Amino acid sequence: MRILIIGGGGREHALAWKLAASPRVKEIIAVPGNPGMTSLARCVDMKTDDLEALADFAVAEGVDLTVVGPEAPLVAGLTDVFAARGLKVFGPSAAAAQLEGSKAFAKDIMARYGIPTAAYFTTTSSAAAKQYIREQGAPIVVKADGLAAGKGVVVALTEAEALAAVDMMMEDKAFGDAGSVLVLEEMMVGEEASLLAFCDGKTVKAMVAAQDHKRVFDGDQGPNTGGMGTYAPAPVMTPALVDKAVKTVLEPMVAAMAAEGTPYQGCLYAGLMITEEGPRVVEFNARFGDPETQVVLPLLKSDLAEILLACAEGRLDEMNIEWSDGAAVCVVLASGGYPGDYKTGLPISGTEAAEAKGAMVFHAGTKLVDGQLATAGGRVLGVVACGADIASAQKAAYEAVQCIHFPEAHYRKDIAWRAMNR
Ligand code: AMP
Ligand code: GLY
Repeated sequence: MRILIIGGGGREHALAWKLAASPRVKEIIAVPGNPGMTSLARCVDMKTDDLEALADFAVAEGVDLTVVGPEAPLVAGLTDVFAARGLKVFGPSAAAAQLEGSKAFAKDIMARYGIPTAAYFTTTSSAAAKQYIREQGAPIVVKADGLAAGKGVVVALTEAEALAAVDMMMEDKAFGDAGSVLVLEEMMVGEEASLLAFCDGKTVKAMVAAQDHKRVFDGDQGPNTGGMGTYAPAPVMTPALVDKAVKTVLEPMVAAMAAEGTPYQGCLYAGLMITEEGPRVVEFNARFGDPETQVVLPLLKSDLAEILLACAEGRLDEMNIEWSDGAAVCVVLASGGYPGDYKTGLPISGTEAAEAKGAMVFHAGTKLVDGQLATAGGRVLGVVACGADIASAQKAAYEAVQCIHFPEAHYRKDIAWRAMNR
């Protein structure tokens, strides 16, 4: 198989690493890829928003399967454009990707099909939003409907904060058109977990559950980021809870999307709140999580290329997917200042030494400057180690992190703390 990967972050590096291990994969091409992927894939510097040009490229290269990392090309219809050319894609159609592209769409489907989630109210009017907030009181969650790079959510603990969030999203248009529709939600209380699943439109097979650390500082303090580290399996998701989430969330959602005439094929990511009443949905994403993928794929024993192709061909039910009993921990090395302003172009050393300790170093924001690896983003590297349990994976990951250096590097020292506290 020749595989095309769309994207160039840590998630796509992890996908390339796992796909390269498949005896069925002859070549991997990544658009645009990153410096860490060059030993696994041919990286081609093309834009990922010109879907027709990408499809031309895939046809010319004889690509058998395209695997899409980020949400934007999916929501823009990459899968539809490719399908019209007879190209197979792992990833949902534009209509199905609305589960991530529009929070109001996702909430309406959940409400209609009885999938457990927070009570909500959708509106295009700031006056109506404010009236609802005054009626409900705080705490309350204010969300921009559309894609806002993970920033369009305010968990407001006071009414004043919630009203200010409405102004920020609707009047000041902080997220552009993404905020022209607002979703107001009940605040749910509990521990969060990410449950990703392979889907082929009909069948759902859950992966091992993971937990992300979204806040920038230790102890879950400071602003939200794209994710400062992850671990899997997440002990909060006991086998009974995983089973319950599959039965009450993932399977009903895939059945709902099929019933609506927009079957869901690809990775369905359920962001869950584990409440006293069981798992309830915080959000759906239409893609692999980043950095969840970096800890989930190392625990997959089966051939990823076979699974993704089976999803694209609608025969996931034939696949027997096996997982290792061990654990994996990912520590993200970020640029100082992230998620605010940060410098780039700073030289990175020690990645080979970290790999020599048995860790995997997935590149998230790096570039080569005259042959020297340098920082190029907020999240720079994801250092992943596996072990028999979370404790040994955590120890190995932090030993590898000690090998890597760049000026002003910042990382959390407490990744997996919730698992360790149990
Ligand atoms: P989202 O982009 O929808 O995942 O929201 C970002 C973060 O906001 C989530 O990871 C949660 O920590 C928090 N959040 C979102 N919705 C709710 C909710 N209804 N109740 C409590 N926390 C929430
Ligand atoms: N790690 C959160 C996300 O991928 O959306």
